[in-house]
Amino acid sequence: MIHVERDDGIAVVTIDRQDALNALDVATLTELRDRLHELAADDDVRVVIVTGAGERAFVAGADIKYMSGLDVDGATEWGALGHEVGRLLETMPKPTIAAINGFALGGGCELALACDIRYASSRAKLGQPEINLGIVPGWGGTQRLARVCGPGAAKELIFTGRTIDADEALRIGLVTKLADPVLDRARETARALASKSPVALRVAKRLVNRALGGDHEENLASEAELFGELFSGKDAKEGLTAFAEKREPRFVGR
Ligand code: CAA
Repeated sequence: MIHVERDDGIAVVTIDRQDALNALDVATLTELRDRLHELAADDDVRVVIVTGAGERAFVAGADIKYMSGLDVDGATEWGALGHEVGRLLETMPKPTIAAINGFALGGGCELALACDIRYASSRAKLGQPEINLGIVPGWGGTQRLARVCGPGAAKELIFTGRTIDADEALRIGLVTKLADPVLDRARETARALASKSPVALRVAKRLVNRALGGDHEENLASEAELFGELFSGKDAKEGLTAFAEKREPRFVGR
């Protein structure tokens, strides 16, 4: 089951399947996809936080018992559904934060990797253990882990399938902060982001997402173009004027 709590522009999405350490089965992953689509389209939602219910797990992966019965077509479809969820988190026009409150393994680590920002509890355990099941990460992990931590660290983790603790995850850049309780820290950042210009955040996310793909010159040209376009909006005028007038800016989202 997926719970969505909205407060002051911040949506907290909680994955709740605690008897399986929040492992994602078809019903839960489909519901997560549907809720994320709604949040992506809702302009009143400025920041999305994803977390797991309970004390033990963020998400302990894709549901292994379900996967054991899949044939090629079923597995391909299952992979595509996970990819759809990852792309939603990665491309929705607002920041997404993973508050990793425990095990983030396999598909759980991949879900976190698709978020813009990753914070973890000091008790969290992360990894891509798929190799131990005779498979590979199938929801974007081979690509995003390599992009986030570099191909060397990604290969070591994916080939060995070992689980790492929060300190190591911080050291290799898989998460950017450790905090307890991690959801409080994620909310604090979300509140800060919700006070920024949503237009500037949208453009920033789009541009940084392009940094590791495509042509460098073209990406720089896009930055120059979108930087210029921001000056046609109210938020850029407000932010620049507020600084000159020594007051806090009031962004309207245009
Ligand atoms: N799928 C289905 N059920 C899971 C699960 C998963 N990924 N992870 C945990 N569970 C279930 C367990 O089967 C158990 O259920 P029962 O009580 O009915 O037996 C319950 O959650 C509690 O788990 P444990 O008893 O195993 O708890 P533990 O504290 O002894 O161990 C753990 C915790 C180390 C996380 C262990 O549960 C584990 O190794 N889980 C599997 C992790 C994993 O391999 N994840 C990757 C899945 S593959 C994937 O995600 C593919 C992809 O890229 C899309």
